Amino acid sequence: MVNIMDNRPIGVFDSGIGGLTVLSELRKVFKEEDFIYIADQKNCPYGTKTDEELISVISKVLNKLISMNVKAIVIACNTASLFINEFKKMTDIPIISVIEPTCEYAYNISKTKNIIVLGTNMTIKKGRYQSLLNDLNAVSYPVPCSEFVDYIENDNLTVDEFQEVVNSKLGNLKNKNIDTLIHGCTHFSLVEDFMRNVLGDISYVACGEPTSMKLKEVLVNSNLLGNSIGNISLYTTGNKEKLQSQLNKFEGFNQSIEEIEC
Ligand code: DGL
Repeated sequence: MVNIMDNRPIGVFDSGIGGLTVLSELRKVFKEEDFIYIADQKNCPYGTKTDEELISVISKVLNKLISMNVKAIVIACNTASLFINEFKKMTDIPIISVIEPTCEYAYNISKTKNIIVLGTNMTIKKGRYQSLLNDLNAVSYPVPCSEFVDYIENDNLTVDEFQEVVNSKLGNLKNKNIDTLIHGCTHFSLVEDFMRNVLGDISYVACGEPTSMKLKEVLVNSNLLGNSIGNISLYTTGNKEKLQSQLNKFEGFNQSIEEIEC
């Protein structure tokens, strides 16, 4: 049987640069897939919006990706992934959430089953990670940290000031037999060093690797694998000079950026 390859790109989006932590992993695994990334920086942060505001702004990003003829969409954002069922009503193409794969991965590597979950205020309030872990008889320690997003996107604090914020969020979680922390916001692995200063050498689980495993499964099962050149197109709904300057936090993103309206 001849295997027909599907060389349409895969759409990936987040409110800002957080989703690039996921895309960095995806591009390592899927060298023959093209990706389109939208940083919805005009609407960043997502994690402090209301449900209605979020569904409205994210639907526009999804429609934009769909109009760009993507074959699958990775929601490289935990906050947006909370509403995946709304978004699945908009299209038949596969849409992938970061939450379930990341949670399962963290559960599997934890020995003590005592797991910290960091997320935006919205992600922690909705409690999806907590209920998934609870169903697995693990104990979760949820901490809302939308302040981290502001620091990562806008550099609004000095390094010392930010370390103080991290200390105040995590300081009381030492010595609780916790061995794993979930970066339940795709921005947060970018500030993992600050967390390590407080919690030391536990396992830190970011969304990229678990989500790439999930994407692999979906592409294989839906016969959507491609054999393209691994092209990556970057867009922002905000200011392209700003995003360009933020790319120095990542390896290997040196392509030009286009501004778009969603
Ligand atoms: N990176 C996002 C997440 O994973 C959202 C951050 C935000 O815009 O609040 O939840």
